[in-house]
Amino acid sequence: MIDMLVNLYELPDSGELYESVKDKGITLRRANAYERHIVAGWVGEHFSPKWVSEVKVAFSRQPVTCFIATRDKEILGFACIETTAKGFYGPTGVSEEARGTGIGKALLFRCMEALKESGYVYGVIGGVGPREFYEKAIGATKIPNSDPSIYRDILPG
Ligand SMILES: CC(C)(COP(=O)(O)OP(=O)(O)OC[C@H]1O[C@@H](n2cnc3c(N)ncnc32)[C@H](O)[C@@H]1OP(=O)(O)O)[C@@H](O)C(=O)NCCC(=O)NCCS
Repeated sequence: MIDMLVNLYELPDSGELYESVKDKGITLRRANAYERHIVAGWVGEHFSPKWVSEVKVAFSRQPVTCFIATRDKEILGFACIETTAKGFYGPTGVSEEARGTGIGKALLFRCMEALKESGYVYGVIGGVGPREFYEKAIGATKIPNSDPSIYRDILPG
């Protein structure tokens, strides 16, 4: 798994992207502390226990560094920053049924904007994953010698 770099001072405008997601009835927002059990449960159901652990770190921060996409009060996707490492993006995931509607990209932009607002110049996408998605969606580039990222010597489970 590689890491990828995102140049935050050259982030493309996200206005149209957010509008297109909103037009589909999807709300993109920062999650609230009192929703931790709901979001963590959803991530456990759709993804993995390790991602649940990282999500809980995002909920331990103020402001919470987990963003969610919802429709009719149901979660469709989530994305976190600053969980396993500072300045890192991830984990992120969209429910299988909701993929391909722009949610993953919108969450990515929202998180990168949050990193920029908190003072970072570059964002790191940790332990990729779908490299072509990040290249295409936000112009991320591979960080040389980053394989296998920080996700090494992991306890099983
Ligand atoms: C990767 C993921 C978050 C993308 O979410 P999504 O909501 O389906 O993506 P979007 O609809 O926002 O896609 C935006 C663009 O990227 C493209 N894209 C989506 N997934 C892609 C992939 N795996 N590879 C290449 N391109 C991809 C889409 O076709 C779309 O292109 P367009 O703008 O030309 O229409 C989702 O597939 C997912 O949850 N995967 C499983 C978990 C995972 O791998 N997380 C990342 C860990 S690093």
